[in-house]
Amino acid sequence: MTSTNEYPFRAETGGRSARRFHAEYGSPLPTMDLAARNTAAKVHRGAEVLPLSYPPPMWNGVDPSSAEGLSTLLALLYGGNRIEWSRGGVGLGRSVPSGGGAYPGEVYVAAEFGLCHYLPGPHALELLRPDDLRSDLAGCLSRAPESRPELLLLFTSRHDSNLARYGGFGHRLQALDTGVLAGQSSALLEAAGLRPRVHGLFDDDRLGKYLGLDQTAETVRAVVTAGPDVLSGATTAVITRMPRRHTPRSGFAVAEIDRAQVLAVLDEATEAVEADFTSGAEVHCVAGRVSGLSVGCHRFDGASGELAPGLPGVTPRELFAAGSFGELAGFEAACALLVVGDYEHGYATHGDLWYRLLNSSAGILGQRIALAATGTGLAAGIRCDFIVEQADRMIRDEDQDRSVLLTVLIGHERQVPAPTYSLLPIEDRR
Ligand SMILES: Cc1cc2nc3c(=O)[nH]c(=O)nc-3n(C[C@H](O)[C@H](O)[C@H](O)COP(=O)(O)O)c2cc1C
Repeated sequence: MTSTNEYPFRAETGGRSARRFHAEYGSPLPTMDLAARNTAAKVHRGAEVLPLSYPPPMWNGVDPSSAEGLSTLLALLYGGNRIEWSRGGVGLGRSVPSGGGAYPGEVYVAAEFGLCHYLPGPHALELLRPDDLRSDLAGCLSRAPESRPELLLLFTSRHDSNLARYGGFGHRLQALDTGVLAGQSSALLEAAGLRPRVHGLFDDDRLGKYLGLDQTAETVRAVVTAGPDVLSGATTAVITRMPRRHTPRSGFAVAEIDRAQVLAVLDEATEAVEADFTSGAEVHCVAGRVSGLSVGCHRFDGASGELAPGLPGVTPRELFAAGSFGELAGFEAACALLVVGDYEHGYATHGDLWYRLLNSSAGILGQRIALAATGTGLAAGIRCDFIVEQADRMIRDEDQDRSVLLTVLIGHERQVPAPTYSLLPIEDRR
């Protein structure tokens, strides 16, 4: 049996370790150990705590010159945004989804006023170093922006945070979750007019040392730089969607959606995100109940903005194990959007690191799909409990290298949602 200690592949093996790891742990999602708890929140004892206002101010962009100027950004990136009466109790909903709600990621921020760690529970920053480390941190990136970024967001994973529940599969979830954070932060920074760039290629050891990490337990998985370039014509529509995005806990109404809605979601979600690596990930749509689209699998062609028909007759429920919760959700949903990528071609260029890069890019796309669907008034549920072989048969890849990395079920939310109470004053109530 492959030891999960091999992950995250500190000794480069040109893809061999990643292939072995994926064969053993990459799929299917194992039965979750419901008795296993999440790890306790990470706190830096003794660090000065900079409290942020909560609820945060209305969205007014990002002011990286002070901690408070980041309050709304951080709440929308990783904070609590609603009280939810579900799962047999009352809980705090977070701005982004996370596999199994485990939230294995930690968010660090480098700005002029210092290097900080974000505490989502109390909505505060821990000041780790009161120095301006932006140039030093940018110097660890393989393809740093030409001028010093205004702000750096650094995303780590705590390696053992979800393994008690998911076993080795938890590592793949960590990479997907990293991508979700990168996708959410690039949408936020775009809305703030600060040109975002996602970095997956860097000297993780040096970055880890700057952050003071015990790198046997926690490593940097992605960095998003903001600016210094300013984007013109930034639109803030995505901000009002963020507090509304949630996984449809009570499922989907068994109802049709329109082809035009699917195309609008795909069009928006597949807009290029600037990154220091090219993932080549693409999206297929398994249509069950989409008016104007035949039942079956269709490939989205970004250039023409059209869906090209592929395998006919398949529906989203066939992505999942018979009798599973996934199958029920797949039956109810109008369609499933499949994020598809190629493991093999990337190992040749990036070695084992590719496993993480590709899964992160699937997380970016998954989150962008979820936000775009929310914008069209539809519900979106990211899922990784599909059976990869069944899903791969649907995309009918001739050279067999492409594989389904993530699915997002789309449809109308069943109209008996778990009661929720929004905590943020930026909802537009539409
Ligand atoms: C990478 C990823 C994989 C997920 N996989 C599943 C899944 O297989 N089944 C499921 O019911 N939910 C899945 N979810 C949804 C989470 O359970 C959900 O995001 C989390 O409980 C937080 O709830 P929220 O999305 O409503 O904020 C996944 C989410 C992410 C980000």
